[in-house]
Amino acid sequence: MPSIQACLFDLDGVIVDTAQFHYIAWREMAQDLGFDLTREENERLKGISRMESLEIVLSIGGVTLSDEEKLRRATAKNARYLELCMQMTPDDALPGVRHFLDELKRNGIPSGLGSASKNAKVILERIDMLHYFDTIVDGNRITKGKPDPQVFLMGAADLNVSPVHCAVFEDAVAGIESAKAAGMLAVGVGEASVLTEADMVIAGFENFGLPQLENI
Ligand code: G6P
Ligand code: MG
Repeated sequence: MPSIQACLFDLDGVIVDTAQFHYIAWREMAQDLGFDLTREENERLKGISRMESLEIVLSIGGVTLSDEEKLRRATAKNARYLELCMQMTPDDALPGVRHFLDELKRNGIPSGLGSASKNAKVILERIDMLHYFDTIVDGNRITKGKPDPQVFLMGAADLNVSPVHCAVFEDAVAGIESAKAAGMLAVGVGEASVLTEADMVIAGFENFGLPQLENI
């Protein structure tokens, strides 16, 4: 039996590049509140829940809001984010990821989604990829966000696979921490200089498949 018996995927930045839309929507909110949000600052929001992201953005601008106003701003940001996401088509899946998910299916290795996003299902439907996942653990199910291991442990439990036999694909530092805390193999998707705690870092899924995964 191969040592990897299930693969768990983050959504934003791994399956599809929605980070750009999160950035635009948060930046517009910041500008409306009188400050700017840089791309570098936006990196801190990757893998972090909506309300926690809002707190980070407000702290960057040194802005204090009432709880009611925070909720209103987060709701408006999400509406804008979803409006931007509606531009996406199935072609927006990141290169090679569909091919890899097909390879897993052919080999009987289940796939799960592990994302902090409450929009995960809508986005997967939009790019016509919902059917690839045997389980979806998203922001509506978890009570503790990344870097807590909960999201990936729930995915492993759903798939009935021991955490030591799971591989996680993640583009966020908080997500790699979460995978390692769950006792799983952590594959970073992005830059090795950023994802320093990952067991292996790949630039993307082109030229990546099961043989490479089993060689880690
Ligand atoms: C992902 C993204 C984060 C985002 C979070 C919540 O983890 O990387 O940038 O804040 O999901 O997304 P949501 O769609 O629920 O606002
Ligand atoms: Mg991500």
